[in-house]
Amino acid sequence: MTPEDLRKRLNFYQDLGVKELYRRAPRAPASAATAATRASAPSSNLASTLASAVAPAPDLAPAIETSARPGSISLPVPLPPLEPAGDTLARIREEIGDCRRCGLCQQRSKIVFGAGNEEARLVFVGEGPGADEDAQGLPFVGRAGQLLTQMIENTASKEGIPIRRPDVYICNVVKCRPPENRTPLPEEMEMCGQFLSRQLMVLRPKAICALGATAAKALLNTKDGVTRMRGRWHKWRDIPVIVTYHPSYLLRQYNQNAKREAWEDLKKVMHFVYD
Ligand code: URA
Repeated sequence: MTPEDLRKRLNFYQDLGVKELYRRAPRAPASAATAATRASAPSSNLASTLASAVAPAPDLAPAIETSARPGSISLPVPLPPLEPAGDTLARIREEIGDCRRCGLCQQRSKIVFGAGNEEARLVFVGEGPGADEDAQGLPFVGRAGQLLTQMIENTASKEGIPIRRPDVYICNVVKCRPPENRTPLPEEMEMCGQFLSRQLMVLRPKAICALGATAAKALLNTKDGVTRMRGRWHKWRDIPVIVTYHPSYLLRQYNQNAKREAWEDLKKVMHFVYD
């Protein structure tokens, strides 16, 4: 495995929410392996973390083993492919289940997984459901959603691009409504981030449009605000990303200048995807 392959694999685990990799102690000869040594193997930490991150893939037990030479590593256990084999949106939704993995479950009504064309070439990622989305279980159906629909459909029609909102896919960084619409906490974003990563890997759009700073932070691991990030291309894995203002921000009267910039961003990403 080349260092580049290893880096990709480690990025993959990071996307899944795995923070630590444990080195497994050198394996004793099979004949000497006892139940006691198995029970104390530190690899169980990683294995169980991965098992909860990617539940139906029991073959994911990739501890990095130490080799005979100090300082070098070998990877005798095959690591999972970058995309869990056979992953689908339906399977991801099923694994989310009636999620209780973080505190957001306490006050939510409905989990908002995402909606739109599963073959979409363009995916929009917002922050998290608001009150209307929480009630309906669908993303961007409130006032901000209506503005997003207008932005997508008006830009497309003005630019001669034959798409409507149902042609794109829309989802959020967190799938449950944060109380009082507060910004999701880092641990909530991290917990839900594994599902967002998997959704994007399954969808594999030609480009992603990150709506607002929270989506930009989740996808691009940046602390920069939208003003600094917008107007140019970024990447999530190998997929081009445009960052633009969140529609809720554009609804505020004093942010009207930002609307023009958001139209510019949408034009850019739509021409890239559909020309
Ligand atoms: N704001 C978001 O970020 N997402 C929604 O689904 C609705 C409002």
